[in-house]
Amino acid sequence: MATETPTPPHDHAPPHPAGGGAPHDPHALHRAPTDPLLEEAITTLLSTVDLETVLERIGALLRRHFGVTRIALHRRLDERWAEVLFIDDPRLPYPGRGHRFDLRRSISGAALERKAAVVVEHLDPGAQRFDEERRLSLAGYGSLACFPLILDRNAIGTLEIAHIPGEGMIDHCYHHAERVARLVAIALHNSLMVEEVHRLNRLLARENADLKQQVVRGAGGYVAEGPAMRQVMEEARRVAATDAAVLIRGETGTGKEGLARAIHEASPRATGPLVVVNLGAIPEGLIESELFGHEKGAFTGATSRKRGQFERAHGGTLVLDEIGDAPLAVQVRLLRALQDHRIRRVGGDEEIGVDVRVIAATHRPLEEMVANGRFREDLYYRINAFPIQLPPLRARGDDFAPLVRHLVARIAGRLNRRPPAVGTAAIERLRAYPWPGNVRELENFLERALIIGPADELVVEQPLGSALAAGGEAETVVTFDQGVRALLECALTQTHGKIYGPDGAAARLGLKPTTLQGKLRRFAARTPGDRRPLPRA
Ligand SMILES: Nc1ncnc2c1ncn2[C@@H]1O[C@H](COP(=O)(O)OP(=O)(O)OP(=O)(O)O)[C@@H](O)[C@H]1O
Ligand SMILES: [Mg+2]
Repeated sequence: MATETPTPPHDHAPPHPAGGGAPHDPHALHRAPTDPLLEEAITTLLSTVDLETVLERIGALLRRHFGVTRIALHRRLDERWAEVLFIDDPRLPYPGRGHRFDLRRSISGAALERKAAVVVEHLDPGAQRFDEERRLSLAGYGSLACFPLILDRNAIGTLEIAHIPGEGMIDHCYHHAERVARLVAIALHNSLMVEEVHRLNRLLARENADLKQQVVRGAGGYVAEGPAMRQVMEEARRVAATDAAVLIRGETGTGKEGLARAIHEASPRATGPLVVVNLGAIPEGLIESELFGHEKGAFTGATSRKRGQFERAHGGTLVLDEIGDAPLAVQVRLLRALQDHRIRRVGGDEEIGVDVRVIAATHRPLEEMVANGRFREDLYYRINAFPIQLPPLRARGDDFAPLVRHLVARIAGRLNRRPPAVGTAAIERLRAYPWPGNVRELENFLERALIIGPADELVVEQPLGSALAAGGEAETVVTFDQGVRALLECALTQTHGKIYGPDGAAARLGLKPTTLQGKLRRFAARTPGDRRPLPRA
């Protein structure tokens, strides 16, 4: 290990001892403004926080006053290392900013250690007191002075000045250079702080961008790993940055609402509210007041004024889920709200401005509905500014396995359990089924499999697919219980496992959802895809 302690140089006792641990006197600068060089240096220093500019100007200044001069500024990194911040050398090419060097063999190291200036009056190529001595003297420099940059008793770097011989380094320059060094210490400190702020800002901006990217890429619980879904996410990311209306299309259960949320979260409105209204789940007569609010007395039962969802979404995003279910009267009002960014509460005259970005979603064939007059063409064009088509689950090959694992983990979390292992055999069995109800159906199926299956492993009985949907076991129905079970399973198959909502199985059977759930338990009915053997009835 070469821990070569530098030979003490033939240093000159400075006429005005520099630093030496003496407390930094902030008033010194104000007391000595008579020196034109110093005054110019102060002006230079105050003119900008850009260190490079400050140093370039100070370099030019010193050269003007002292002739051919080499100026170098170093910043201490730790006990052993420093880096070059700036070098202005008319004679020698030198590694630029960021070059690290070992303090142990350099004049900077000596000045930092002593916290005092070190001066070599006569550079000698053979003396090797410091690493730089030979190079500098061969380049024609005669003397070298190194000043520690001291701020609040900390030596944060060094200022090095080399002169060609005969320029009268000591007599003429030392006194000035030492004071300039104090200024440079402040400039260095300030600009390093500014740089640090810039660096943190950039870091923050990058983290922010990453976070947004992640939200839209699926780290927020939305799986999108295969090429088809990546394409969707790319479109979502692009449109998220704008205020354009988005129309998300896709079969039932493909994740339309989830995508709408992801777009909101990746948009500049992310800090604003996100309001989701499912137009298919609200009784027709109440949709207008739900969306636009109502005044007191607007209709029977309107006992007080109520704000609508448009107003609630002000400054944020309004998701109009199942927009295909909006009655024509509501469509007229929606169009006006989207065009004018103003709404009127039901039973009110006042126009209220709303700043809302609208994302609509539907699984219905809107073009067909436009053709037979069930959906307004003008509204269709308005909301269709940026259509995004979600592929069905069966077309998402590379997404399937990660999605199953993600859903299993999510469901296990909901059930307060450790997620069971998901083997490739289970995944292949699941994959063989076409999942007409898409991710929602898969999620429903997995939830049931987790509840009734073993705790440590996901078990998928085969073959998957509802017997009733395939018409397989219909003729074996013999008892009352089996008949009821078949009826329940038939309704569940048609709704892809969905129980709630106007297109859920409960509504189809004319039952309350909670009643249906009770009956499902009692008659041990299976959701689509569930092929456990039927219990004896
Ligand atoms: N890519 C995905 N990653 C993770 N979960 C998903 C994904 N897509 C859908 N899901 C889950 O599937 C379920 C259905 O999703 P969502 O409600 O967004 O679908 P939808 O298309 O709006 O369905 P519907 O047509 O029935 O309204 C939700 O529980 C959702 O979290
Ligand atoms: Mg939906």
